[in-house]
Amino acid sequence: MIRTLTYIDAQQTACIHADALPDDFLPSFGAKFLEILHSQLLSSVKVTATGYFENDQLVGFIVGTTNTAQLFSEIFRAGFLRFLPFILKKAITSPTTFKKLLETIFYGQKKSTVASGELIIIAIKSSCRRKGIGRKLFKRLITDFRIQGVHLFQVSTLVNNQSANQFYKRLGGKFNHSFSMYDQRWNLYEFSIYEKKV
Ligand SMILES: CC(C)(COP(=O)(O)OP(=O)(O)OC[C@H]1O[C@@H](n2cnc3c(N)ncnc32)[C@H](O)[C@@H]1OP(=O)(O)O)[C@@H](O)C(=O)NCCC(=O)NCCS
Repeated sequence: MIRTLTYIDAQQTACIHADALPDDFLPSFGAKFLEILHSQLLSSVKVTATGYFENDQLVGFIVGTTNTAQLFSEIFRAGFLRFLPFILKKAITSPTTFKKLLETIFYGQKKSTVASGELIIIAIKSSCRRKGIGRKLFKRLITDFRIQGVHLFQVSTLVNNQSANQFYKRLGGKFNHSFSMYDQRWNLYEFSIYEKKV
């Protein structure tokens, strides 16, 4: 079953996010931080989020936005006091924490393409991959974006995330450029909605 997600689903989406991308910057703050972040994300009117359920258990989700420029700065401003203890704790052991946090907050403001939508994250439970669930969620995001008047959207993924790069290319993504964030290289793909054949 596919359905729209709300903040009530945040614990489950955060759990899948942490398992799917354990080495990423945001999961490195820990499970509780990620759950707060997800609950802010899933509450935002700027976000479109869909989950794929099997036997009432969430096994995959996708999150998109039509306003990356403001999304992360709004989320961190609104949840500042709740995020602060996690940020300070991590900063003690990792001096690059503040730099990376600023990169997250201002990520969407370094606008490099004309895309009006962005796929923020897609993650499928590892035991459920290569069964077409990612493709179904992706198709649903396209439907939602189309309703919102988005004709072009983008997604960024780490250069060394082979499955995600293959997935985006297979689904029609056109490589646009690479850039640096969190001291790593990322690829940015663009998707033209009306040309798409998923
Ligand atoms: C990327 C990801 C979302 C794909 O989800 P999925 O449900 O496994 O993808 P699908 O089964 O719908 O695959 C669709 C097509 O993408 C391509 N693809 C997906 N995973 C692939 C892999 N590991 N290697 C090569 N191609 C792959 C294939 O062409 C596939 O079609 P096929 O199975 O008929 O050959 C999933 O691997 C995942 O959750 N990864 C960890 C989280 C992540 O990296 N997210 C992206 C960063 S935001």
